[in-house]
Formats: sequence, C-alpha cells, structure tokens
Amino acid sequence: MSNLTNPYPSPLLPTVCCIGAGYVGGPTMAMIAQKCPHIKVTVVDISQPRIDAWNSDELPIYEPGLDEVVKACRGKNLFFSTDVAVAIAESEMIFVSVNTPTKKTGLGKGKAADLTYWESAARTIAAVSKSNKIIVEKSTVPVRTAEAIEKVLKRNCSDATVQFDILSNPEFLAEGTAMTDLAAPDRVLIGGKIEGQAGKDAVDSLCEVYANWVPEERILRANLWSAELSKLAANAFLAQRISSINAMSALCEATSADVSQVAHALGTDSRIGPKFLNASVGFGGSCFQKDILNLAYICECHGLKEVADYWYSVVGMNDYQKSRFVKRVVSAMFNTIRNKKIAMLGFAFKKDTGDTRETPAIDVGKGLIEDGAELAIYDPKVSDEQIAMDMEGMNDNITCYKTAKEALQDAHAVTIMTEWDEFKTYDWQEIYGVMQKPAFVFDGRNILDHDHLKEIGFIVYALGKPIDPFLKSAEGVI
Ligand code: UDX
Ligand code: ADP
Repeated sequence: MSNLTNPYPSPLLPTVCCIGAGYVGGPTMAMIAQKCPHIKVTVVDISQPRIDAWNSDELPIYEPGLDEVVKACRGKNLFFSTDVAVAIAESEMIFVSVNTPTKKTGLGKGKAADLTYWESAARTIAAVSKSNKIIVEKSTVPVRTAEAIEKVLKRNCSDATVQFDILSNPEFLAEGTAMTDLAAPDRVLIGGKIEGQAGKDAVDSLCEVYANWVPEERILRANLWSAELSKLAANAFLAQRISSINAMSALCEATSADVSQVAHALGTDSRIGPKFLNASVGFGGSCFQKDILNLAYICECHGLKEVADYWYSVVGMNDYQKSRFVKRVVSAMFNTIRNKKIAMLGFAFKKDTGDTRETPAIDVGKGLIEDGAELAIYDPKVSDEQIAMDMEGMNDNITCYKTAKEALQDAHAVTIMTEWDEFKTYDWQEIYGVMQKPAFVFDGRNILDHDHLKEIGFIVYALGKPIDPFLKSAEGVI
C-alpha cells in the first residue's frame, strides 16, 4: 500500500475505512487514527443514529479511554459517516467490522453465523470499487468466509481489472479494556494468501499499519484459514477455562473446598497460568457463546460430531451455572421468592462496559421472575431502556433504579451479577440496616468480603465456597 508509513501529512493522505461502527470497528479505528496520524481513517455505518452519536459528545459505546482518543483525532484524521460508498471508493484498504450474529432461522439456526450483513457489505464494496482494494475481515467469521466473500466481490464488480485481496485480521480486544488491548496487544494476527505474491504484498501493507505502534515480533502472519479459525479457537479456549472452573465451583460447594484456593493452586502451575480462572455466574458477551456454537456447527458440517459435542458442552456448563445460581437463591429463601424484592446489582456482562449482550443477568433475572420475584435492578452503565428490551415480557416485575441504595431498600436479598468495583466500596453495614431479615447476599462474582458480611449478619452464598450453615438444609436441591 502506498505511503502508509509516510510521516508527513499531505493532501494525499493514505486512506482506510471501516464498515461497521460498533464495539469493534469504533475503538479499533480510533486507535489506528491515533497511532497513525498520517493515515485518514473513516468509519462508516448504515445506522444514522450510531454515526450521529460517534460525532457527538455522547459516544454510542462506553469504553474507558475511548472518549479521549476520539476527541483528539475526530475531524483531523478520524471521520464518522453514513456515506458508505464514498468512503469505500476513496480507500485503498477496507476493514469490515459488521455484526455476525447467530442465525435465528433456517439451516444451522441457533448455531451458524449469519453472514447477511457481511455479504451486503461485500456487495456494496463490489458495486462502488473502481480501483484495487485490500479487504480486511475484522468481524469473527466462519472458516473459509474469505473464499465466499471473494466470489461475491469478483462476480459483482463491473470492472474486471479491479483486484481484491482479502485478509483476515481478527480482533482480540476485550470490552472494558479495549483501548489498552489495542494499544499493547499480545499479538496481531494477519492471515492472507501468503502462498502468492499479491497476497504477501497485501499482508505486508497491513503489517505496515500496525508496525506504527506494535513491535514486529508481535505481528503474526498466517494463511487465511488459520487466521479465521484462530479467532474462533481463541474464544472457545477462553470460554472453556471459565466453564471448567465453574464446573469446579459446583464440586467445591459439594465438598467444602474453596474455588478461589483451587483456582490459585491451578494458576500457579506455569503451564496452566492464572488468567480466566474466576468462577462466575456464567460468561456473557457477544462472542463466547456465538463463536463456540459456530465452531461446533462447523465441526458438525465436517462430520466431526464428537468434536462438536465437546464444544457444545462448554455452553451447556455455562447454562447449568446460571440455572444453578437461580436454584440456590430460591432454595436458600425457603423455596419461595414470590413477591419478594430481590436487588440485582449489575446487569452488564462484565464490569466497565454498558454492554448487555448475552449477559448472565438476563437468564438469572428471568429465572427469578418466573419464581415470582420482584426485581430491583441497578447498574452503573446500563440504561433502563436496554434492560427493558433485554427483559421483554417480564418488565411488570422489574424496577430499575438510579442508585444501589434505592434498589436495596427493603430488599430480601441482593444478587451480584457484575463485578463493578463500586459494589466493593459500599457501606454494607448500612445496607444491612435497610434490608428485610434474614438478609441474603448471593455473590455471583465473588467480589465482596464474605467474612465481613457474615459478621454484619448477612446470610451469604458465594459461588464455589463452603456453604453457610444457615443454607445447609437447602443444599440437596441443587
Ligand atoms: C472476549 C475475548 O476475551 C476477546 O479476546 C474477544 O475479542 C471477544 O470476546 P469480551 O467478551 O469482551 O472478550 O470479554 P471477556 O473479558 O473475555 O469476558 C467474557 C465473559 O467471561 C464475561 O462475562 C466475564 O465476566 C466472564 N469471565 C471472564 C468469567 O466469568 N471469569 C473469568 O475468569 C474471566
Ligand atoms: P461488533 O461487536 O462486532 O462491533 P456491533 O453490532 O457493535 O458488532 O456493530 C456492527 C455495526 O455494523 C452496526 O453498527 C451495524 O449497523 C453495522 N453494519 C451492519 N451491516 C452494515 C453494512 N452493510 N454497511 C454498514 N454498516 C453495517
């Protein structure tokens, strides 16, 4: 790609664009703009409200550090627009970061990735391209998507001389830490048709962009199919660790072992390592479940039933953990939570994000309401409207509060759904005073000081920890 490392801004800035201004496209492009002031970066989306938000003081997503970067670059070399055609036409490199949800209907429903948005983006690219383009897959896609996309591009471009080189550059950022992940990634993976010169050149061009801030040894090159599969595999491995420790948490409760101690013992084995061993009420987020189901579906399509079943069990364990938590709440509270106010602290799928996609709070919340509970929800970042959408059909039994204090007033129990730091700083003695008695705490993230809570008088259930004697009689139901 011409001029990408040219340090002198000129009227002919090398230009890249990104289709899809979501959780991946927005932060990733903001980082490229910040680290490469000599590159013009345009992020486009079909959603006018989303683009308006990116151009306003209220960005459409909450991500620590994102505001500062966007404010510093916007209008200089970072632009947000709905004019998809113009951005494509003027760019040499086009990142595609559109949503690839799980199919809801038809062949592979509930498992396969829905590539409708991807294909539509590819058709637009083909329709407006008059010069060679490097197409970069950023969205997580099934293995060999590049092949399908290439066919769509070639068959729909009216100019047969236009060359499309497709790269797979999966994004490994995690929400809540996106900006630090992008600034100092463990690795950048770039897959291309490296067996041919054109493919090698395309890979080199993208490497040049990242080389502006990522050390050379962290930029990995691979063939297209390895890069596509690596992204699905990485998410499957990470989710599998959480399901493994969550499976242990159930056994710990049955044997009076402590899952934190077990995780520490496991994590100090350098072959296992300490990360992603926090037992929780279940993993959420837009990626883990979707990508595992997609991976398993691909296995099925290749006749690998046993391999597919292995990965399905990771999702199965996650579902079990959520329903196990609901049963713990109901059984602890004398098998009836009908008309009881239960405070739910946290609704986002993890801390430092307002994202609720696949959050365990949805399934747990529904489970509690099915048993008659009145939910009082407080989350520092999730809007009431979002909760209402996620809990559709159940909203008569839900009240959202602007403060935790209001949610906890007269509550019979509190469930911790998200590991927000502020929950640890609350005055739990005072909270105990305003709750009904016995006052229960169900810590689905193991973030509170359980000994302190017990001293105050709370009945505490903590995942994977020895069961409180008060709850012992209720144990058999799990
Ligand atoms: C994940 C991958 O980490 C990232 O590389 C990929 O690009 C997108 O998917 P994300 O979903 O944003 O990122 O968050 P992550 O930090 O991986 O957490 C996913 C879920 O697992 C959250 O619900 C989190 O609370 C849960 N989790 C994580 C645990 O329950 N225990 C842990 O030890 C770690
Ligand atoms: P992710 O978490 O993968 O970033 P999001 O759902 O947050 O996914 O963002 C994907 C974005 O892609 C959405 O804002 C959606 O409007 C946009 N999008 C989908 N299809 C197209 C398209 N054909 N052209 C432009 N934008 C698109």
